[in-house]
Amino acid sequence: MEYEEPKFFHVMEYADAADGDVVDMVSGNPDWEPPAALREALSEYATLRSAAFQYPPSEGLRELRESIAARRNVDVDRVVVTNGTGEANYLAMARAFERDAGSEALLMDPVYPYYPGKTELLGGEPTLVPTEWDGSLDVDAVREAASEETALIVLNTPNNPTGAVYDIESVRGIVEVAEAVDALVVVDEVYDHFDYTGTFESALTLGSDRVIVTSGFSKSMAITGFRVGYAILPDEHAFPAKARHMLVNVAGSRPAQYAVADALEATDTEYYAETRDRLAERIDAFTAALDEAGAAYTRPEGAFYVLARFEGFPGTMANVKRLIDEAGVAGMPGETFGTAREEWIRFALVTPRAVEAAERLAEYFE
Ligand SMILES: Cc1ncc(COP(=O)(O)O)c(C=O)c1O
Repeated sequence: MEYEEPKFFHVMEYADAADGDVVDMVSGNPDWEPPAALREALSEYATLRSAAFQYPPSEGLRELRESIAARRNVDVDRVVVTNGTGEANYLAMARAFERDAGSEALLMDPVYPYYPGKTELLGGEPTLVPTEWDGSLDVDAVREAASEETALIVLNTPNNPTGAVYDIESVRGIVEVAEAVDALVVVDEVYDHFDYTGTFESALTLGSDRVIVTSGFSKSMAITGFRVGYAILPDEHAFPAKARHMLVNVAGSRPAQYAVADALEATDTEYYAETRDRLAERIDAFTAALDEAGAAYTRPEGAFYVLARFEGFPGTMANVKRLIDEAGVAGMPGETFGTAREEWIRFALVTPRAVEAAERLAEYFE
């Protein structure tokens, strides 16, 4: 099979090489500070005895797994710490295909591009299922698309790129579809701390043995470079997922897990609330400026991306490059997120220059 380089890297490289000043809104790399306790724990780690520099348990440091289990209200044996949510998704999706229950994955359109990529990597076949105009789940469309061939349904809430926060009853509806066709449901909750509606509920609350929840600390602690995530699997899937994790990685990074474990215990809700408030302000300011620009956009209920559409300027790679060169703003082409938002461009609000970017866009499209 041929592996495609993720388009994110292509756009970032293009923006980096541009002549002029470019506001980078391509990928979801937070620009804010991690929790103070995380920096402290990292410094402390450097002073530990060399035994602490050796392999951690493959499934993750016990204290981190316990802390995750307590927060998520699940048995600790169900938790495997992974190299980011990315690996957690890979392990979870692999479980779905390993059961001889079909080879199809139903993915919601627009889609986070790594899901179809991973599906193909694992020998599965992705099918895109439409969502509602605002990005919320269309349970009937999923029911219609599901068949005996369906091994897996992947959901992401709060959603990248639409910003939709799925209501738990819709997620329950999807789990019922999965039960009917013997599929697993992977719910990627990496943006769970970025819910501006106050309505987000984890799929774990459904208590279903069909559901694998994945998440991580890349976004919530602003540490995409640390690579610490986790999967919470039903009992029967936990051991095989841990075995795959061990065979692929041996283990994850011990210092990163140590720092995250400390920060998880020491960081109060204020840190997360402040980050959320800052992003909510950015969303307000950016969308107000888009109004000025006469652009259509979706106002995110969660996560930190805004999809915008400019009249007569579809979200192709060529147009995104034009915006970099001619307007000094870099986003992601809508065409990279499946078929539903080909006309749109996604902007990640991970820069204090978001408003400046929107003003540049307004001027460009004047
Ligand atoms: C929906 C979604 N899942 C997973 C990831 C990857 O997260 P991690 O850095 O924890 O691997 C991202 C990163 O942007 C994402 O948007």
